[in-house]
Amino acid sequence: MINIAVLVSGGGTNLQALIDAQGKVLQHGKIKLVISSKPDVYALHRAEKEGIEHCVIAKRDYTTQVEFSNALLQQLQSYQIDMIVLAGYLSILDETIICAYPNRIINIHPSLIPSFCGKGYYGLKVHEAALAYGVKVTGATVHIVNEIPDGGKILLQKAVDILPSDTPETLQQRVMEEAEWKLLPQATEMIAKEIEGK
Ligand code: GRF
Repeated sequence: MINIAVLVSGGGTNLQALIDAQGKVLQHGKIKLVISSKPDVYALHRAEKEGIEHCVIAKRDYTTQVEFSNALLQQLQSYQIDMIVLAGYLSILDETIICAYPNRIINIHPSLIPSFCGKGYYGLKVHEAALAYGVKVTGATVHIVNEIPDGGKILLQKAVDILPSDTPETLQQRVMEEAEWKLLPQATEMIAKEIEGK
């Protein structure tokens, strides 16, 4: 059983999907720590309710990126974290963290990469761009995190049809329900199993 840290920045619906998957889809990993990039987000309440250790490590509390990254790394290592799941996390992880966890950090992105991804594409903006472009199918992607935003190896993807009546909000909700909340536990289990097998 490996130790998982989940990094969050918002409502935590993807964190909740992982919590609910423990012991079911997620057999080879346990969520030991939740770290938020900002205070007072509902994701922290979800961790609290589940009795999972949680804290805030916010970039604005540190004078440099290096100090922020070192604080993050120290917290991860103090909980003997083996893998990191980015679940709606909006801070950039630099090479300090990425090099400490090679091929052990995964992220859920709310589009079919390589569409609508990279710098500036996050949250609702992704769905606004898909609707503006007029694509008929979108979806979600789980990928390995490397130094390129949304650039790492793709692990899983799931397509979701776009409806003529869709707004960015209705599309975001359906992509989360039909794709993100299914893919993230599956991908987390894949990597957890791989790490445990090493
Ligand atoms: C959602 O748009 C999700 O697609 C993306 O982050 C946003 C918030 O997710 N990954 P959550 O509810 O905080 O998990």
